[in-house]
Amino acid sequence: MVRTLVTGATGTLGTALRPRLAAAGHTVRPASRSPPEESRGDLDWVELDVREEAGLEAALEDIDVVVHAATAPQGDTAAVDVQGTKRLLEAAESAGVEHVLYPSIVGIDDIPYSYYEHKRAAETAVEESDVPTTIVRATQFHSFIADILDSVAKLPVWPFPTDMQLQPVDVGEVADVIADHATHLASGRVEPVGGPEICSVGDIARAYRDVRGLWRPIIRLPVPGETVAAFRAGHATCPDHRTGTVTWEEWLTEPGASGPDSRTESAV
Ligand SMILES: NC(=O)c1ccc[n+]([C@@H]2O[C@H](COP(=O)([O-])OP(=O)(O)OC[C@H]3O[C@@H](n4cnc5c(N)ncnc54)[C@H](OP(=O)(O)O)[C@@H]3O)[C@@H](O)[C@H]2O)c1
Repeated sequence: MVRTLVTGATGTLGTALRPRLAAAGHTVRPASRSPPEESRGDLDWVELDVREEAGLEAALEDIDVVVHAATAPQGDTAAVDVQGTKRLLEAAESAGVEHVLYPSIVGIDDIPYSYYEHKRAAETAVEESDVPTTIVRATQFHSFIADILDSVAKLPVWPFPTDMQLQPVDVGEVADVIADHATHLASGRVEPVGGPEICSVGDIARAYRDVRGLWRPIIRLPVPGETVAAFRAGHATCPDHRTGTVTWEEWLTEPGASGPDSRTESAV
C-alpha cells in the first residue's frame, strides 16, 4: 500500500486527486492549512502551512509519495510556491520520500507573469531535489476560467482581451494523469496535459454567456504588454497534447459546473 500526502488537498486539483489516488490503491493523507469542516475528527487530515517548518515532519511521517498541489496564486507566491516547495522538498528528502509529483502550468517559460516566474523557480527546485520527482504541466482548468467569468458576470458589458488563446481542460482528467504517474516510478518532466480544443477568450466568453443565458455584449479590450501578447501567441496552449476529452461547452452544461445560477436572469 502506497502512502501518499496530498498538499493543497482542499483545492480544485487536490479535491479531484484524493478519490483518484484512493482508487489507484494509495492511502491518502490530505493536507491544507484549514481542513474542511466535514474532516473534523478525521485522523487522516493534517494541518499544514508550507510557509512554516512546523508540521512538515509529522505530515511526512511514513509517507512514500507526495503530490504537491498547494499553491497561492493570489497570495504570497514567493513564500508559498517557491520557499514552501523548497521547504517541503528538503523535509521530503529527510523523511525518505520516494517520489514527489509537482503539478505545473503550460507556457510558464514563455509568459512573463510573476506567478509563472515563481512556478518556474519551484520547478527548478523540484528538478534539483535529490528526491525522485515528476513534473506534470497542464493548461487552465475549466473551473478556473469559469471563476474569472463568474466575477464579471453581473457587469452589463464584458470587456476581454478576446484574442487570447486558451486550451481549457477538465481537472478530473488532469488528476487522472497525475494519479497514474503517482502510481509509477518518478519520470522527471512528462508530457503536458491539455484540453481537447484551443479557444479564443472571445469564444470562451460567448459560450459561457449563451449557456448561462446572460446575453451580455462582449467587447474586445486591447490590453498592451508582453503577458497578454504571449497568451495571444498561444504560449498557454499545447496543441500536440490534447489529452483531455471534455470540451468547454460540454463542461459548462454539466450538472454542477460552477457559476452563478443565472439561467433565470432575463436578457438585457
Ligand atoms: N487552476 C488552474 O487552472 C491550473 C492549471 C494548471 C496547473 N495548475 C496547478 O495545479 C496546482 C493546484 O492548483 P489549484 O487550482 O487546485 O489551486 P487552488 O484551488 O487555488 O488550491 C490551492 C490549495 O493550496 C492550499 N494552500 C494555499 N496556501 C497554502 C499554504 N501556505 N500552505 C499549505 N497549503 C496552502 C489551499 O488550501 P488552504 O487555503 O486550506 O491551505 C488549497 O488547498 C498548482 O500547482 C497550480 O499551479 C492549476
